[in-house]
Amino acid sequence: MNNLQKVADWLRSSKKTVVLTGAGMSTESGVPDFRSASGWWTKTDLQKVATVDALEFNYPLFHEFYSMRIRLLEKCAPHEGHHILAKWEKDGILHRIATQNVDGFHFQAGSKCVDELHGSIYTFRCHSCGQSASKESFLAKERCGHCQGYLRPNVVLFGEMLPEKAWQNALSNIQSADLVIVIGTSLEVYPVNQLPMMTKGKKVYINKEIASHASYFDCILEGKAKEVLIKLDELLSTNK
Ligand code: OAD
Repeated sequence: MNNLQKVADWLRSSKKTVVLTGAGMSTESGVPDFRSASGWWTKTDLQKVATVDALEFNYPLFHEFYSMRIRLLEKCAPHEGHHILAKWEKDGILHRIATQNVDGFHFQAGSKCVDELHGSIYTFRCHSCGQSASKESFLAKERCGHCQGYLRPNVVLFGEMLPEKAWQNALSNIQSADLVIVIGTSLEVYPVNQLPMMTKGKKVYINKEIASHASYFDCILEGKAKEVLIKLDELLSTNK
């Protein structure tokens, strides 16, 4: 039996399946990932734009980086792979998605049970007092109307805690899952990279390039997220 067929069978028999996604889930929508050759962190120094220090001490660069990503996302949309995951949720095949992505594509595709572990780039707040702000105010580089603090998207920066509820949901669902499918992440970033190892269930890794983490998984599907999900969905529909 080939690996695709094996994973399709596991999907069919699993009572609780959780998917964990990373930036590789969205590259086929035209959004760069972080660590590939064309990723953000090969062109931009992470420390200068995605840390609490960057926000507090180099706001112009921080603002430029997130404004650019927000504007890019306005031109992008979820792809068929995101839609397949949403359909699987509706059909009772998929229980929950935990994502490191801030692009909101799982929700836009119709998934409802999603935990955004690194926040969302579509809502904004004051970094100092927490008062919510609009996208327009952020893009216009306005200061907080309440305390004059810096405005920022509700994403997790390096040096910040993950949103507690999203983390707890993801952790407990992954711990109790029969099947965890990890898609499009280098598994470089703590603490999310610990999650796949916390399940009692089977672990599958779908990624364009399979490097050091292969030995942790029960099955590897090397390939692009959208293409692999389309093939899995075809197998699920033909062998019902
Ligand atoms: P990375 O850029 O580290 O990893 C993306 C992975 O997806 C790589 O291993 C690619 O080979 C793979 N990939 C790219 N395109 C793919 C495709 N079409 N199909 C399948 N795989 C593909 O991104 P993440 O692991 O998500 O955090 O990064 C984790 C976190 O680091 C991000 O959430 C972000 C970043 O810094 C913060 O900013 C806090």
